[in-house]
Amino acid sequence: MRVTVGVSGGIAAYKAAELVRALQRQALEVHVVMTESACKFVQPLTFAALTGHRVITGLWDDATDGYDAYDSSIEHIGEAQWAEALVIAPATANIVAKFAHGIADDFLTTMYLATQAPVLVAPAMNVNMWEHPATLANLEILRQRGVRVVEPGTGDLACGMVGTGRMAEPDAIADAVLNALGRRHDLAGEIVLVTAGGTREALDPVRYLGNRSSGKMGYALADAAQSRGAKVILISGPSALHPPTHCEVVKVTTAAEMRSAVLDRMTDATLVIKAAAVADYRPVNFSDRKLKRTGPLTLELAPTEDILAEVARQRRPGQLIIGFAAETENRMENGRAKLLSKGADAIVVNDVSGDGVGIDADLNAATFLTASTAIELPEMPKRKLADRILDEILTLRRPRSLVVELDHQLDSELDQKTSQEQVLSQSVSPASARRQLIVE
Ligand code: CTP
Repeated sequence: MRVTVGVSGGIAAYKAAELVRALQRQALEVHVVMTESACKFVQPLTFAALTGHRVITGLWDDATDGYDAYDSSIEHIGEAQWAEALVIAPATANIVAKFAHGIADDFLTTMYLATQAPVLVAPAMNVNMWEHPATLANLEILRQRGVRVVEPGTGDLACGMVGTGRMAEPDAIADAVLNALGRRHDLAGEIVLVTAGGTREALDPVRYLGNRSSGKMGYALADAAQSRGAKVILISGPSALHPPTHCEVVKVTTAAEMRSAVLDRMTDATLVIKAAAVADYRPVNFSDRKLKRTGPLTLELAPTEDILAEVARQRRPGQLIIGFAAETENRMENGRAKLLSKGADAIVVNDVSGDGVGIDADLNAATFLTASTAIELPEMPKRKLADRILDEILTLRRPRSLVVELDHQLDSELDQKTSQEQVLSQSVSPASARRQLIVE
């Protein structure tokens, strides 16, 4: 989606660069328009470098500097049609007044009149200017007209005074833009830990036991979660893929390394998604010299730790734990058994027996399995499936405050009401038994 950031002349103009980055992090394409006075605070080149587009600084600019934004001879109309949202940050008292009264004497004010896209203003000014009846009246006119005002904060102002007038934080302005665009931003505030790719267990300096996992599903989940507003920690086995920009990436090789990376970082996470294909066995002996071909060879293997089960055991209240299951037969029975034995809130069951779907493929189909539901997610590109999986995960999310409050109380109730045998015989996980109690 496309956003035009209008920068007017205030000391907060430098913060518009952070806003541009915040919008880009949400995969939005950004153009920048600057007023003449904004150019006294920040160089247009800053924004040109950030956006890769020419920055429009006046009604009569020529478009010969290599940063052509679009092919239109009437630029303000072209830009007004291009933008799906126009956000002015910082918005000075002057620009607010011009917008309110329809004065169109430069590019930005002309574009404001010409656009039908949602308009947002993030005012920044001295406290007396902010509180002046003229400014308040102008903002009221804009609000009545449907312009969204991203309220300024209170604190030390650039002019040395203390009061209201500080431009809202770039992330808050970006959130308001996403809302105005109707973009889903339903994972804002979540910290999502995703594991991806396969692990490798070395036999000797050149050989390892591994699997065909490419990491595509995990990387798609990381990308989807991030574009829906989550902070993402991606713990990845070796993969040729580029991780989504801005997520924290921890590269690991073995199952043991993945385990310690996950356990180290899981306390921060509100949601853990274990899409990695973790090795189930590691060689008991590692040869520090290359193994020679001397005839038949028998490898002795030892099981690795089950990271998912360990994470579920160590979960803190409110944390959601989602596992994957790669199956070639009896998908549902095996998936349900894994849901129980690992204690996850849900298992995404993949059929990995076919070609072109599942492991190392671009397409995938899955069943999202919880204790009480089995939702079929038909074949689709992994990035799309990632969004569908996140949709289903969100239906499991309850207000966290409620969970924290009830968790103590429920632990003791759970002990009394639901013995482990009952949980098993009713085919419900402890997590869902807990949920059931909340519903009750
Ligand atoms: N998993 C894990 N640690 C392991 C093995 C698997 O955390 N040592 C996790 C995977 O990341 C996945 C889930 O457990 O989320 C199921 O993985 P899968 O390979 O399907 O099942 P396994 O537990 O390995 O059981 P099996 O191979 O016998 O089917």
